[in-house]
Amino acid sequence: MGALLALVAALFQASPPPPPEQPIPYSHKKHLALGLQCANCHTNPDPGETMGLPSTSVCMGCHKTVRADSPAIRKLAGYHQDKVEVPWARVYRIPSYVFFSHRAHGEAGAKCATCHGEVSQRDMLFKETDISMGGCMNCHRRNKASNDCTYCHEPK
Ligand code: HEC
Ligand code: HEC
Ligand code: HEC
Ligand code: HEC
Ligand code: HEC
Repeated sequence: MGALLALVAALFQASPPPPPEQPIPYSHKKHLALGLQCANCHTNPDPGETMGLPSTSVCMGCHKTVRADSPAIRKLAGYHQDKVEVPWARVYRIPSYVFFSHRAHGEAGAKCATCHGEVSQRDMLFKETDISMGGCMNCHRRNKASNDCTYCHEPK
């Protein structure tokens, strides 16, 4: 009985949350199969903390003509015309009291897939890896990076 409960608990923990509903059914799998690179849409502007999300003009470079009549692309063109960014539902998020830099991790050799899964195989993204404090610390332990509280948090 104890073993069964432990198994159920493990299965429960292992099942990731479902993908959030997105305003436009954008598929990483389809677009990466066209030969696009992450950096075409996620530019890591200075000082390098965020990766950012692409503006509608990046999309409209192709979609002014590609599938222009589909309802999803009309919705995209509407945001573009109104000069508002697409209100994408965020998938990965950490609180603002945590220090995190994409550039520092890239320079340390961390790959996108380590923290975000096999994005190029996904039609819809979901939070499939552990970016909780424990998840960060496990990787720091494996890579002999610091786990001092003040490495990731402002000193009190
Ligand atoms: C060491 C783990 C790690 C690696 C490696 C990593 N990310 Fe992230 N990513 C995160 C975390 C944590 C967040 C949430 C950041 C936040 O909320 O401030 C995030 C957020 C994002 C976002 C949302 C926008 C933003 O900047 O908050 C995008 C897009 C993204 N990552 C793309 C990428 C791409 C592309 C790569 C590879 C070039 C990559 N990530 C590598 C951990 C990682
Ligand atoms: C390099 C050109 C290119 C760029 C840039 C591009 N797309 Fe696409 N997109 C395509 C092509 C080609 C297809 C058709 C792919 C298929 O069906 O296999 C497509 C399909 C789509 C579809 C499905 C349309 C339908 O109803 O069939 C959506 C939605 C979409 N793209 C959204 C976006 C968004 C949002 C962006 C910007 C973040 C973007 N695309 C950037 C080329 C592009
Ligand atoms: C054609 C543009 C485009 C390309 C190329 C692209 N992405 Fe994205 N990415 C988006 C858009 C649009 C979103 C927001 C919608 C979503 O979450 O699916 C997004 C969202 C994300 C997120 C979730 C951000 C968050 O926290 O909400 C991650 C992680 C991410 N992309 C990683 C990658 C990686 C890794 C690659 C390369 C393997 C890549 N992307 C290539 C357009 C792109
Ligand atoms: C893929 C393994 C991995 C994951 C996952 C990871 N880290 Fe790191 N982190 C590293 C490595 C390696 C370094 C570089 C250590 C060095 O240069 O000595 C680093 C460095 C850092 C630094 C210092 C870099 C700087 O800005 O100067 C901070 C802060 C940090 N990580 C926070 C986090 C947080 C917060 C998370 C979880 C959201 C996280 N890390 C997840 C491997 C990881
Ligand atoms: C490698 C990075 C990293 C290190 C080292 C780290 N934290 Fe965190 N911490 C995080 C992240 C990421 C979160 C946010 C988790 C989430 O999304 O809820 C967090 C959240 C927290 C929270 C609020 C969340 C909660 O559980 O209520 C506290 C309190 C905290 N950390 C304390 C500490 C203390 C104390 C230490 C030193 C023993 C420490 N942290 C070391 C990354 C780190």
